[in-house]
Amino acid sequence: MANVEKTLVLVKPDGVKKHICGEVISRFERKGLHIHAIKMIQVPVELAKKHYAEHEGKGFFNDLISFITSGPVLAMVIEGENAVAAVRQINGATNPLEAVPGSIRGDFATSIDENIVHASDAPETAAREIGLWFPEL
Ligand code: CMP
Repeated sequence: MANVEKTLVLVKPDGVKKHICGEVISRFERKGLHIHAIKMIQVPVELAKKHYAEHEGKGFFNDLISFITSGPVLAMVIEGENAVAAVRQINGATNPLEAVPGSIRGDFATSIDENIVHASDAPETAAREIGLWFPEL
């Protein structure tokens, strides 16, 4: 297999509350990706701020931190060929109204603030985010 990558995926509190963790996992598995690590976590504010550090100073930053710490999050390391791009394709565009039907956000969300999933946007970001969420790996 060429270009095997790992990427970080979060099922955010809205996805956990909607009971679609299994659906999300299933879509990655059906694509041929596999779960390298997985855990349910109540996100500490410090971790949330580190994870979203690039958005600090933006108007939506405080809401972002409040939301990701509002309930349990399912954190996963997904692995497979071209995993970063493949996961982002399955998730769909960040704004659910721009995400195509058939993608997770296109199928299950209507608001950019509560868009079910997060995934790393590049291999370098994935390495940083996996280190934050899974320091034990
Ligand atoms: P996520 O992939 O978790 O990364 C940052 C999050 O900020 C994004 O998904 C959205 O849920 C949220 N967000 C809220 N407003 C915006 C915006 N204007 N642009 C990008 N992301 C936004």
